[in-house]
Amino acid sequence: MEKREQMYEGKAKKVFKTDDPRYVIVDYKDDATAFNGEKKGQIAGKGVVNNTMSNIIFQLLEKKGVPTHFVEQISERETIVKAVKILPLEVIVRNVSAGSFAKRYGVEEGIVFDEPTFEFSYKNDDLGDPLMVESHALALKLATKEQIETVRKYAMIVNDTLKEFFLERDLKLIDFKIEFGLCDGEVILADEISPDTCRLWDVHTNEKMDKDRFRRDLGNVEETYQAVFERVKK
Ligand code: TMP
Repeated sequence: MEKREQMYEGKAKKVFKTDDPRYVIVDYKDDATAFNGEKKGQIAGKGVVNNTMSNIIFQLLEKKGVPTHFVEQISERETIVKAVKILPLEVIVRNVSAGSFAKRYGVEEGIVFDEPTFEFSYKNDDLGDPLMVESHALALKLATKEQIETVRKYAMIVNDTLKEFFLERDLKLIDFKIEFGLCDGEVILADEISPDTCRLWDVHTNEKMDKDRFRRDLGNVEETYQAVFERVKK
């Protein structure tokens, strides 16, 4: 497959056309942003980690019955994926209080929930990705009821699969964000699953091993991405 012109550049990835309209190539950058692009930086090696780690996880999820956009990794930073129309809903699942949940409700981080929580943010940078209830997503026709049911079902499989996968690697899955797209009318998992999009705490020390190290200036950012990568490759 041939790489053609760039279609889009996001905060962490570029997307290129190919000679086949059914497929695109994503190219992962080392750029990092936080707080809707207000904080900008670079995390050396992040693109390689996030590309490879996402692909390992997407292949595992396929085996668990979640269809994904993954086709083939073609270099350290580049992967061929199915072209999709992204549903403008960020799907967030939480197992433990942290981040915006802790802030919104004025509670500490680290409260373990009996059941995972499930929420949407409206994927819209101009509005700062606001929290959105399902009826509003339906009112704005961002997705159909059936698509939302499918998204919920897949998100729960992703949570169960990732919790086990990371626990085997001495990491607690605190929360994560995933995105879905439409391909031939079907809902499939797209975007990435990486330390940019998950909160991961070391099982023994509760040390934060994810993008919160960058967001909160906790130091050892590059080293932490590499440490997670080493555990994931095991
Ligand atoms: P939050 O606690 O800030 O709402 O984040 C929940 C999860 O979503 C966390 O694992 C980080 C991830 N996330 C993204 O992937 N992209 C984003 O833009 C934000 C705000 C969070």
